[in-house]
Amino acid sequence: MEKSPTQLKLESVAKTYANPEGGASLPVLTDVNLEVRRNESIAVIGPSGSGKSTLLNIIGALDRPTAGKIFLENENLLSFEEKQLAAIRNQKIGFIFQDHHLLPQCTVLENVLVPTIIHPAANTSACLKRAKELLDRVGLSDRFHYKPARLSGGERQRVAYVRALINQPILLLADEPTGALDRDNAIRLMELLTEINKDRGLTSIIVTHAVDLVKNLDRVYELKNGCLYENALHRGGSRTAPT
Ligand SMILES: Nc1ncnc2c1ncn2[C@@H]1O[C@H](COP(=O)(O)OP(=O)(O)OP(=O)(O)O)[C@@H](O)[C@H]1O
Ligand SMILES: [Mg+2]
Repeated sequence: MEKSPTQLKLESVAKTYANPEGGASLPVLTDVNLEVRRNESIAVIGPSGSGKSTLLNIIGALDRPTAGKIFLENENLLSFEEKQLAAIRNQKIGFIFQDHHLLPQCTVLENVLVPTIIHPAANTSACLKRAKELLDRVGLSDRFHYKPARLSGGERQRVAYVRALINQPILLLADEPTGALDRDNAIRLMELLTEINKDRGLTSIIVTHAVDLVKNLDRVYELKNGCLYENALHRGGSRTAPT
């Protein structure tokens, strides 16, 4: 079968944090290379401090690398100015953070709709319909008007997930989305992520500590000594990507 097109490509990406006190700078990523095709889901694992969040922030254009190139749909992200990057983040990339980052004063539905406010082509009634459909899909149809304080940790993460999907991104980046959840809720969220991402043709990169949660993903990479290594033992990849 023909392979689906490359969605994301990283070439020799490096990141060194400068030391503001003038001491030695900290090289976190030294030579990261990665190619992810449309509709693939990959996991990035690695010990605390290995640079997983740094890598995800760079892929999501929240931070810039010290060296290297990043292509999203064949366009070099580093060639854009901040204003264009903000539009790309809003329209093409969905983020889920370890800590859900929901607005406490807003309801579930309002939180989900926040990214649509600045999307130039957003149609209010279509967005509302999509928000309700997605919330229903993740089992939250009876929580539209709850504020985050009244939700469980797993429910909050599902709201954050729907918010990440609301503008129909092409790339989903999740930084330890199950980090604050118990095992059962973590398994349920990962199942939802893989199922819905696959249905929507999303390319996803999921950072996790939990090696046992990644069995349904296509590939697993380990971040070690500043480089990404594919885990050859991973038996995922049974999913077929569309051409
Ligand atoms: N803004 C920053 N300035 C300076 N150093 C940083 C900055 N962000 C991260 N670091 C350092 O870079 C290294 C990698 O951090 P990063 O947050 O990417 O690790 P991680 O793999 O996500 O860890 P964890 O699993 O604990 O979330 C750490 O040593 C950290 O102290
Ligand atoms: Mg991290």
